[in-house]
Amino acid sequence: MAKRGERDSGVRPFPFFRAGVRADPSVGAKPVLVLEDVCKFFRPDVPTLRSVNLTVERGEFLFITGPSGAGKSTLLSLIYRAETPDDGRILFSGRDIARLAPKSIPFLRRNLGIVFQDFKVVDHWTVFENVAVPLEILEMPRRLVRSRVAEALERVGLAGRGGERTENLSGGEMQRVSVARAIVTEPALLLADEPTGNLDPHLALDILTLFEEINATGTTVLFATHDHSLISKRNHRIVSLDEGRVSEARSGLRSWPRRVTDAAHDGGKAA
Ligand SMILES: Nc1ncnc2c1ncn2[C@@H]1O[C@H](COP(=O)(O)OP(=O)(O)OP(=O)(O)O)[C@@H](O)[C@H]1O
Ligand SMILES: [Mg+2]
Repeated sequence: MAKRGERDSGVRPFPFFRAGVRADPSVGAKPVLVLEDVCKFFRPDVPTLRSVNLTVERGEFLFITGPSGAGKSTLLSLIYRAETPDDGRILFSGRDIARLAPKSIPFLRRNLGIVFQDFKVVDHWTVFENVAVPLEILEMPRRLVRSRVAEALERVGLAGRGGERTENLSGGEMQRVSVARAIVTEPALLLADEPTGNLDPHLALDILTLFEEINATGTTVLFATHDHSLISKRNHRIVSLDEGRVSEARSGLRSWPRRVTDAAHDGGKAA
């Protein structure tokens, strides 16, 4: 049941984490995400992330890349608070989520959509049931759940498929279901961890295009992939992780980009 003062949809009832400038202009003016000197150690001697700095403006599309074990998944898990940094700050819409009380974490996640390589859909549920989950957690009225799920399915190219059992879908369609579930709450930030890793190259490009369409409607997207053939097809901002450090290139991966810290020393002109 929607509480007084919420929008009709009943989603994002916590103004601090609202996506749009409509809710709070000062939040809208801030970068959606800022990492300041973020360090993460899983072993005391080997940092997984060493003093990572990164600013993501509202509406950006970023590739996060780097070799296996470079820390791409770790970086994303810090943003959705599955992990906490050992040092540094992570500001989401200006608020330090690294220091968020555990009871506030669900409020953060209502403003995030997350898509994984292995889809994480429930096979024996229908498409509708899978996509409706985040709205049911918010106790949204049934009528609104139906219309929001239908809208999300349309956006991912699965209009009218809500009644089908998810296990009967192809891999590409299952990933579309998981994207629909991630966007059904209209999150400010969409995180994707190797979302095309289980798909053939043609389907991978389809899914990348889907993320770009979602991005075009204003959602900020962080798309982690080690697939350089996919990255090179586009001209998005590229953040590379290697040995715990971040480096950046703005147009394609023609050469391995230089480190951000190096670029900062020469006026931030990394190519
Ligand atoms: N929960 C954990 N406990 C211990 N070590 C971890 C944990 N999570 C990640 N690591 C380590 O941190 C490093 C980075 O792992 P991460 O999964 O972030 O890499 P990745 O860039 O996503 O790699 P891949 O391309 O294979 O998915 C690895 O050395 C990994 O073993
Ligand atoms: Mg990973």
